[in-house]
Amino acid sequence: MTILDGKALSKKIRDKVKNDVETLQHNNITPGLAVILVGNDPASSAYVKMKSKACKEAGIYSIVHEMPSSINQENILEIIDLMNKNQNIDGILVQLPLPEHIDTTVILEAIDPTKDVDGFHPYNVGRVVAGLDSFIPATPYGVMELLKEYDIDPKGKDVCVVGASNIVGKPMATLLLNANATVDICHIYTKDLKEHTLKADIICVGVGVVNLIKEDMVKDDVIIIDIGINRIEDGSLVGDVDFKNVSSKCSYITPVPGGVGPMTIAMLLKNTIKSAKNRKGI
Ligand code: GUN
Repeated sequence: MTILDGKALSKKIRDKVKNDVETLQHNNITPGLAVILVGNDPASSAYVKMKSKACKEAGIYSIVHEMPSSINQENILEIIDLMNKNQNIDGILVQLPLPEHIDTTVILEAIDPTKDVDGFHPYNVGRVVAGLDSFIPATPYGVMELLKEYDIDPKGKDVCVVGASNIVGKPMATLLLNANATVDICHIYTKDLKEHTLKADIICVGVGVVNLIKEDMVKDDVIIIDIGINRIEDGSLVGDVDFKNVSSKCSYITPVPGGVGPMTIAMLLKNTIKSAKNRKGI
């Protein structure tokens, strides 16, 4: 069994991003990322903090617009409009989820697609589906890079994606399909999850359910990508896979933490550089 080391690969990518930023700075270009954080969900606040810190380390200018959960939609749209027009900003990211009274689709569609470094605007979603150059959502993008790093080619493989969110499951399935895998997408209404996971060569799971994937649900030599992040009673972080009992059956598996999580941040930085270069015609 080989551990897919996202921490090591993310460091490599972040070092490369840092070099790219230095080169851009020689041409008087400093990439900029604007993050909008609404409310005080502890997990969202923690992610935003990590994103800002990573920007700083890479030499990317970043600004966080923190807003109370009581804010109205118009005020968020005003900030997005300002960021769309701000020439120093290359990437705009609205941390999700948003409070219930805010229409997430309206917010995401207000972001200039050329600054949509999360790849959540329907314009970029469509381009990914069509296999065109686009901003690719950071988490599934990170998974694809991790597979590439370990020479795992999804072509012709049976892949089971568990979870069908717009942020992870759907773009994950799309990228794998574009890479010529045969993809099953399972979700909360799937009749028999085990029937799908048991025949999979690769399982990508990210639904936030501790120990969802158990030993008897996977075949020998399976490759497992655990995108889940769950905090358990003792305060530690675990994924959606019963790692202790499943890992010995795997040919490759991502740990939690240290697998997909660090890749997400690295790919966001990469998307921000891509945007800065695109926008400056480099
Ligand atoms: N919430 C959970 N994951 C993400 C992400 O990748 N981007 C944003 N904007 N919000 C998230």
